[in-house]
Amino acid sequence: MKGKIADPSLASEGERSYSWAYKNMPALVKTIESFGDEMPLRGRKVAMCLHVTKETSVLAMGLKRLGADVYLSAANPLTTQDDIAAYLSSQGVNVFAWRGENQEEYFSSIESILRAKPDIIMDDGSDAHVTFHEEKEFSDHKVMGGTEETTTGVTRLRALSKAGKLRYPVIAVNNAYTKFLFDNRYGTGQSTFDGLLRATSLLIAGKKVVVAGYGWVGKGIAKRARGLDAHVIVTEVDPLKALEAHMDGYEVMLMGNVAELGDVFITATGQINVIRGEHLEKMKDGVILANAGHFNVEIDVNYLKQNSISKKSVRCFVDEYLLKNGKRLYLIGDGRIVNLVAAEGHPPEVMMMSFSNQLLSVVNISENHSSLEKKVYDVPESIDKQVAKNALEAMGIKVDEITEEQRRYASEWKV
Ligand code: ADE
Repeated sequence: MKGKIADPSLASEGERSYSWAYKNMPALVKTIESFGDEMPLRGRKVAMCLHVTKETSVLAMGLKRLGADVYLSAANPLTTQDDIAAYLSSQGVNVFAWRGENQEEYFSSIESILRAKPDIIMDDGSDAHVTFHEEKEFSDHKVMGGTEETTTGVTRLRALSKAGKLRYPVIAVNNAYTKFLFDNRYGTGQSTFDGLLRATSLLIAGKKVVVAGYGWVGKGIAKRARGLDAHVIVTEVDPLKALEAHMDGYEVMLMGNVAELGDVFITATGQINVIRGEHLEKMKDGVILANAGHFNVEIDVNYLKQNSISKKSVRCFVDEYLLKNGKRLYLIGDGRIVNLVAAEGHPPEVMMMSFSNQLLSVVNISENHSSLEKKVYDVPESIDKQVAKNALEAMGIKVDEITEEQRRYASEWKV
């Protein structure tokens, strides 16, 4: 077995965390167990570039149980739970991940899992897919297919495909209803506040919370902020999403105008430099800044670093930047994805759906790769529906069956 982790002695702590996630991810467990003694991934090498969390450990162990040889690296240098890395490593997963990797170590870990010559690459954010496509070292390797977990990653893959450079089919797990409706909205909504509250321990009620971006992630954050009795203001660039935010009862404003009003700013756009110097300079003393997007590019952290008189760590994950205008701004987790840096990521009950889609998509690629084209596919509807059924069953919710008469009615054009 290969790998590099922080501390193997954390394995038993990791096992407790794994067991907690396992118990709370019944739909994923059901998906794994639905294969019985079959091992549809026997002989397959799967490279996973995911956040190394307790939820990911259930997926990794599930892939192993289906016969795969699993290689795991982190999807962010700061999100690895070292106890989980140790537990998975003790169970025969080849883990190359530790919390606090520098940029070079982060990409070198990704290269390590790609060097294993995987048949399938599972990614979150597309750093592994892009590294595979960019590094000469991998130009002769053949890959059956890949999967991608996030909106940001799917956007990058579509650009790669549009440039005619995509070398294998990829299933956009992010685009399954049973992924984005729950993970992006309820998962990020809750876990963003989990991170924000663990880091700051401050009250949200009565504060002006500015949510940048009203995609599924932004919607979830705005909803949770409202639930905590914040005054919520949304910024958007897309007219449809802005209109939706307005109709959902939020104030919609320009970032340039709301910069001087907000108490807490949370970015969720997938875009670069959404909060820039011109905004930071206008902000009130004591403002909290957090990012919920995949990459640490949404808040111009370099501006803060270059234009502050001082920077000091005031709490775990909270840095105080003293601007030349005398205002102090508090940045959470260095502008990296707040829910995974300052908390444990999405709860297991949403990850069970996202990861059921991942697992079934990997099996689908393993079985059908020869008939797939080198393009980005959505998750097959049959998989999405199966995941929804499993989740409902796990939650003890029964739904009605369509009657024969209704089926006929829905297929006729005459009433
Ligand atoms: N992305 C967001 N939350 C996550 C979690 N709990 N595990 C893995 N990836 C995640």
